[in-house]
Parts: sequence; structure tokens; C-alpha cells
Amino acid sequence: MSAENKADYLARVSIVIKNISKPIRELYLGFRSNTIPVGYCILGIGFMQFLVYLEADFWIFERLNIAVIYPGRGHVSFVIYYLILILCPFWMWAIFRALIAERLTRRLTEVFRAIGLQNKLGSLPKLIVDVPLDTATRKLKLSRALLPLSEFQKAKPALESALHIFIDELREDRVKGTVEIIYSHSPMPQTYEVRSYESYHATEFIIGTTRAKIVRCDLTATPHLLVAGQTGGGKSTFLRHLIVSLYLSLKDALFTLIDLKGGLEFQLFENVKQVSVRGDIASAIGELKELDEVIIKRFALLKANKCKDIAEYQSKPKSERVGADGVPTDIALNRHIIVVDEAAELFLSNSLANPDDVRKAKEILSRVSRQGRSLGIHLIVATQRPDSRALDPQIKANLPGILSFQMANDTSSITVLGNGRATDLPPIPGRGIYKNSLEMVEVQTPYLLPQKADELLEPYRLEKPPAEKSIPPVENKAPAEPIADPNETPNFPKGDK
Ligand SMILES: Nc1ncnc2c1ncn2[C@@H]1O[C@H](COP(=O)(O)OP(=O)(O)OP(=O)(O)O)[C@@H](O)[C@H]1O
Ligand SMILES: [Mg+2]
Repeated sequence: MSAENKADYLARVSIVIKNISKPIRELYLGFRSNTIPVGYCILGIGFMQFLVYLEADFWIFERLNIAVIYPGRGHVSFVIYYLILILCPFWMWAIFRALIAERLTRRLTEVFRAIGLQNKLGSLPKLIVDVPLDTATRKLKLSRALLPLSEFQKAKPALESALHIFIDELREDRVKGTVEIIYSHSPMPQTYEVRSYESYHATEFIIGTTRAKIVRCDLTATPHLLVAGQTGGGKSTFLRHLIVSLYLSLKDALFTLIDLKGGLEFQLFENVKQVSVRGDIASAIGELKELDEVIIKRFALLKANKCKDIAEYQSKPKSERVGADGVPTDIALNRHIIVVDEAAELFLSNSLANPDDVRKAKEILSRVSRQGRSLGIHLIVATQRPDSRALDPQIKANLPGILSFQMANDTSSITVLGNGRATDLPPIPGRGIYKNSLEMVEVQTPYLLPQKADELLEPYRLEKPPAEKSIPPVENKAPAEPIADPNETPNFPKGDK
């Protein structure tokens, strides 16, 4: 073989290997991301097996006049042929995906050229992989071609329009020199209403919806939550949904609602059983101080019962429960949800409240965020300002769930989420980014009309509302409404629950 022929031969072999490797790569990616339609493929395998059983494959070889190469049954070659044949559905899927990737590469090249996304040497970003993240969202990984992320960000609208996609996030991997585009083919829903508030797991509530799925938060896994975002983003609306949802699903839980913007947001929850609403700094601080005692008592109770957390205590037979003094008791430990709307008002309130009180309140909230999980005390903090002056960094660091609505600038978004995603959000009320230890997703949070919330809470309202129960004045430190001792079985069960 001449040197020229040899080179030609090698070039052909490399093309064949490249073409075979593409579907194999797609298969590998498909298995890794769990997106191969395994059910259909297994059906296909059954069908192929049936064809082999009927010897229909041999018949096809005969019709094509290639029966001589049909491997003899019983030979190793037949086993190999048989395996390739019956796995055909998987191969077909992989070849189909490889063809789509090929088309995408061509399309991307065209688009990058058309919108001028190329470096000064004329090189274009190259497709590395396009993989599904879930049923609706995909990740497009590109080599950067020395382009900074900001160039991709500038080109985002043009990319969306040229590729007919909706980009959720652009991020770079500096070490690998790649850019990842998280995208989808369908837009996010602009509003979302929860159909039924009665059908949820006790400790679970809905955070919102993505294009593909409902995102939920379970207090046993994510015990505390930070809700951040600039004015009008949807923080208080989300809190309304969250409180109603947990109130209806958590049996006998206690709620302390602190709204330091005058108490207006939580007016709806006044006179509701087991809910205590605080609309001024003084009474909010008074209530938080009481929590200190509650924490100590709960710890002692769990210790006496040798329980590591509230769930273990609740699952313990009532007859085996003992009080902190070791004497049998019927104490039912209930979850306690503390919601603070506009926390900055508390932390920046030195002019309105005694600085020592404010420091104490901060300490207690910080303690709840550190120790509340096992004690069943959960903290939900909403704030417009997530900076260290307006929100104690120690508290923030201990809130494992974060829901951020739109932020005015990257600095605030980075403070909350660690990246600029909250600044890139469209200005749609209720649109946010939810982050927990496992995922970071864009969500449309539920919209619960105040009237609907009112109707849902109606059966649980106190029969005789205290006369002239309104927002207490700043100097009124007396509790507006007694809340049940968390270490005692509440004596006013919620309606028919
Ligand atoms: N999930 C949602 N779906 C649809 N509309 C919403 C949603 N959340 C909020 N809105 C609309 O946006 C308005 C402002 O929302 P909200 O009062 O909750 O914002 P906020 O973040 O609490 O603002 P502020 O910081 O000023 O208190 C609401 O009155 C409502 O009309
Ligand atoms: Mg608000």
C-alpha cells in the first residue's frame, strides 16, 4: 500500500470510528442523565426477539441476497450479531440523538456567525454537549473560544431569538474554558395558582412551579428559609401562601408572624387559632425573648426522652413520654413556625427599640436558625436587603433554603445566591430563584388571593375576636394575643382537625 493510499485509508477509518463513537457517546449521556426512553426500548427489544424467533431476519438477508454472511446459529459470531440486533432500539435512539446533535452543531455555527459571537481571530464557540437536565430544561455546553462570559450574556437575546429557546442561566467554567447555557423550548408560566391547599404532606409546602415540575420544600430537609428580593417582587405574597399552606397541613403547629412594616401584611392571620401576629418591634422582641425559654425547655424535653429530634419524639408512644423532670407526661411537642417579614426593620431598628433588646432578638433568631431544626422551630425570614447590616450574617448562613425574587443589582443577587441569577430574572411578580443544598431553579411562586386565604382560614378563626384587635402601638410591649405554651398540648384544636 502506497503512503498516499495508507493516509487515505487511515482517514476513512478515523471517519468511521468518529461516526460510530457519536451514537455511543449519546447512549452514555442518555444513561447518565436518565433520559433514554427505556420502556419503549424494552418493548422494541421484545419485538426484535420475536422477529429472530420467526427467523424474519434470515428472510431479510435472503431477500437482500446476502444470506451467505448470515452468522450460523451456535457460533460466537451469532451471539454478537444477536446482541447487536436485539439492542437495536437503543442504537436507533442513539443514532437519532447523534443526528440531532450534528444538526445543532451546524445551526449553532450559523447562529454564532450571524450574531457575531466570535473572537478576534474569527473562532466560534464549539458545541461540546447538549444534555437534558429534566424533561423541560437542557444544558448546552460550549467551548468558549477565548470569549468572556459577558459576551455570551450580551448575546443572550439574540441567541434566544435565533435558536427559538428561552435561556435560564449562563455560567462559565473558567478552569475548563467552557460556557454552559441552561435553556428550555417553552416559556415559564407567568402565574401559578395552587389547586388545593388541603392535600399536602405535613411539613411540606410548594415553593413554585418550573416549566416541568412543582418544586416543594420540606421543613424536615430544609428547616429554615430566606426570602429575598426588591420591593414588589412577591415576598409577602409568597409568605401568605406559605403560612396558609403550612397552617392547613401541619397539625397543631404554632405560628409567630412578625411583620415590621406596620403589621398590614399579616392582618389576615389575626384572630386565627394558634397564630400570634406581631406588628411592632417592641412586641416582636418580647415574643422572641420568650422563645429563648421555649428552646431551653424543648432541649430538656428531648434529652429526657432520649430523642434526637422532634420527629422522634412525636413518633414515641404517648405512654412512654416523660417530662424534663423524668415524670410521665402527655406533652405534645408541636412545630413552631416563626415568620419575619422585612427583617431589616428589626435589625436596623436601633432608633426605635432598645439596642440591647435588638441584640437579644438577633441572638435568639440566630440560635433558632442554628438549633431549631431538631427542636421543630422553623424560621422564615423575608427581606428586601440581604446585606450584612440589614440581615445578621450568622442567621443568613444558617438558612439552608433561599428564595430570591428579582434583585436590583448583581451585588445583592450574589450576596443571596452566590451568583447574578436574581438580577437576570424577568420583572414578573412572583418570579424567583429557589436554591437549596441540592438544586437552584427558576420558579413562578403561587399566587394566593387574600380573599381565598381568608376563606381557607375562616374555620380556624377564634370565635370571639378580642375587641379592637389592631396593630399594637410601638410602645405596647404586652403580647397582643397569648400563644400556646409549645411544651403543652394546645387546648384549642384547629376546627375539625
Ligand atoms: N406569585 C405571584 N403571582 C402573581 N402576582 C404576584 C405574585 N406575587 C406578587 N404578585 C403581585 O405583586 C404585588 C407585590 O407583591 P408583594 O407585596 O408580595 O411584594 P413584596 O416583595 O412583599 O414587596 P415589598 O418588599 O414592597 O413588601 C402583589 O400585590 C401582587 O399583585
Ligand atoms: Mg412585602
